[in-house]
Amino acid sequence: MVPYCIGQFVNDYIALTKPRITWLILMSTGVGYFFGARNGWHWLTLLHTIVGTGLIASGTAALNQWYEREADAKLAFESTLVERANWKLVMENARECYHCAVRHPELALTFPVKGRRSVQFADASGVDAFRVRMAAFGLPIGPVEGDWWQAMRFPVNDGTITLSMDGRPACTKLLCDIAQGDIGTMRWALEPHSFIHATCDTVFMFSAMPTGPEETVVTSKWLVHKDAVEGVDYTIDGLTELWTKTNLQDLDLCENNQAGVNSRGYVPGPYCEETEQLVMRFADWYCATARDYLDHASDQARLAPARRRLAGLAVTDQITEVHHLVRHRVLHGEVASREELAEVQAVVRHATRW
Ligand SMILES: [Fe+2]
Repeated sequence: MVPYCIGQFVNDYIALTKPRITWLILMSTGVGYFFGARNGWHWLTLLHTIVGTGLIASGTAALNQWYEREADAKLAFESTLVERANWKLVMENARECYHCAVRHPELALTFPVKGRRSVQFADASGVDAFRVRMAAFGLPIGPVEGDWWQAMRFPVNDGTITLSMDGRPACTKLLCDIAQGDIGTMRWALEPHSFIHATCDTVFMFSAMPTGPEETVVTSKWLVHKDAVEGVDYTIDGLTELWTKTNLQDLDLCENNQAGVNSRGYVPGPYCEETEQLVMRFADWYCATARDYLDHASDQARLAPARRRLAGLAVTDQITEVHHLVRHRVLHGEVASREELAEVQAVVRHATRW
């Protein structure tokens, strides 16, 4: 065991005060005092202000960490993938799972990919039994949702307790040890760019951000218990293998989809109401947000061309139209008017809160 010396003891207390954050706060306070002092500034007043602010900021930081000591997790790993596909294709792929059974064999070991309705992710009788079992632990399973979010807990496959390569925890220090960790997965999604799975041992976070007409950056994060130690409680490979494989399989799907969309024979098809409910929900929210922006924009004249283009289209076609315009304007040199392109991009940017 490594001896715990007095120097480390002091360093731990200093770390609790979040000195770098406190330093930024003091810098802002000092500059604010200098410019805000109406009757001139004085060294002694400045000193009191700085010391007082520093004590409050560092004390608050320490109190915050004490209060959240049980709830905190730590970021074990983060990865970034660049997918050569339009963001809409990436997000639609992330919002449905009827491709999972055939394209994600590793995920299918633990993830209930056979559920026909994507909002249930499992057969109804299984969900009902799971609901009763979780209720005994005080864990509601939902689903609950708002316009731009949805959350639910659902069971993983029989014989497994978490989403990993073998169904066993990839981190032995559990985030939640209720029922020995057999609590399914808590999934929530935020429009327009992310979904998260929280199981007993790991929180996996996925987000997709558009960086070009045919380029999307996918960021993945793995969180584990704040006290988990790499090499002791988990390994990076063991922790990340399942979702890394899944991400790469999805990358392949999305890039193939993009090639299909670009082909001369491509014709947009309807969504399947049985298996693509979350996709439709995503597209409807996106279009409604864009439409709301157009309806309430302060400068109606500036956005009029984009508004005219979207008017009259079915809701689920509007998102296709916006991305189609941006993609072709940029890629094929069809920029009739840079202002026109800027208007469409403004709609997209606002809707996606870039
Ligand atoms: Fe997938």
